[in-house]
Amino acid sequence: MSAAVFNKLLPSDAAALAAIVGERNLIWKDEERLEPFSHDETAERRYASMPEAVVRPASTAEVSRIMAYASSRRIPVTPRGAGSGLSGGCVPVFGGIVLFMDRMNAIIEVDLENLMVVAQPGVVTNAINETLKKHGLWFAGYPMSLETCFLGGNVAENAGGGKAVKYGVTSRYVVGLEAVLASGEVLRLGGKLRKDVTGYDLVHLLVGSEGTLAVITEVTLSLLPIPRRRAVLLASFAGAREAIGAVPRIIREARIVPTSVEYMDRASILASCGYLNETNPYGEAGAMLLLEVEAESPDELFASYCAIGAVCEAAGASPICVADNRTTMDRIWNVRRSIAEALKVRSPRQSLEDLVVPTAAIPSFMEGLFKLADEEGVEIPCYGHAGDGNLHATVVKPEAWSEDDWEERLHRILERLYRLTDSLGGRISGEHGIGNKRREFIGINLDKATLRLMKGIKAAFDPDGILNPGKIFPD
Ligand code: LAC
Ligand code: ZN
Repeated sequence: MSAAVFNKLLPSDAAALAAIVGERNLIWKDEERLEPFSHDETAERRYASMPEAVVRPASTAEVSRIMAYASSRRIPVTPRGAGSGLSGGCVPVFGGIVLFMDRMNAIIEVDLENLMVVAQPGVVTNAINETLKKHGLWFAGYPMSLETCFLGGNVAENAGGGKAVKYGVTSRYVVGLEAVLASGEVLRLGGKLRKDVTGYDLVHLLVGSEGTLAVITEVTLSLLPIPRRRAVLLASFAGAREAIGAVPRIIREARIVPTSVEYMDRASILASCGYLNETNPYGEAGAMLLLEVEAESPDELFASYCAIGAVCEAAGASPICVADNRTTMDRIWNVRRSIAEALKVRSPRQSLEDLVVPTAAIPSFMEGLFKLADEEGVEIPCYGHAGDGNLHATVVKPEAWSEDDWEERLHRILERLYRLTDSLGGRISGEHGIGNKRREFIGINLDKATLRLMKGIKAAFDPDGILNPGKIFPD
């Protein structure tokens, strides 16, 4: 896809869009107000690109009219949630329209009989659980940005997060979708069903399609009961090797599936504590594991964290602290959740990666990472969802490197990192997506036949290629 195939927005287009959403829900010819829609949370300006207009629809019918209009005029459309993504998924690479979904933010139905919730894409993910709390229910998707991200973005990116060890990722809970095709046609897929093999599974094809196949306008999620008790363990290890070495043993030896097994190296911990002005409770620890367990009774909880604590101790952890009150658990999680932001404030010139390997390969991955960092003379702090094999290695620009150095060397470092991951049976993104950030590297993981099939799917949904062009696939 090249920019040449698209039309630029004319004043007549702006007038047509304003007629659909109303003048005040259109941003056009106002650089200052358009600028925030040129990027997501990905560091480095090279991934940013300005939209020509931002349009804020209020209903599926409006989305449908906008898509039909954009199709007829060959104007690219990029759907956008809260903009908390980390691969440039909502960046309008070819300009055109950013479809900002913030006004479609209703929780349409809490269905206590079927244990489902129906919500619009612009709802803040955490608001769903706040609403469900009084019913003792929750949506088990748990992206780290849950206090700001939108449900639609979680679905589009198939967001993972900190509870996937036990609960899996967003797709596990999406049972129904309403979505609008590039043509403007409205699809209703799946429903309040716990089983459905009626034709191809388009629901789960759209989940994780990064806004390239259709615009999600409504989501039906299946819910779970809130576990009665939980506790968080913080296990300090001498270094990364020791902490990572404990991970595969935890489930096998304790015979418990923890809710979370999060890894934090020293640089990540110190950056986050500094950023939050939080005391560093971690002393001299070289690396830590944050483990969460859930149970139905105090006795079961005690037994669970003792079993996990014993495995960590046998793997060399000391000290191991346990928190089972809400405030302390929130404080600990806050340190973990804030790492990405803290490292970005500390080192704005960086590349936050999202590598995923089979869990048994994590120790080999870490050895490869240390070697690579050493050989390239670069700092690569690392943290992430160790229980899923999903690690956020973050390549940081050394002060001494010139812009040109950084450009050239980062490319080589990323390629080496991705090839290392691939050689261990892993993938270049576990939860953040490909977007425009990683698209030139997707061929490291996917062969030609697979890419051809994926592009064929894209063409079937969006024959003119107007939906979120410039993503996933290399030029
Ligand atoms: C996290 C984000 C960066 O795990 O995915 O903190
Ligand atoms: Zn993550």
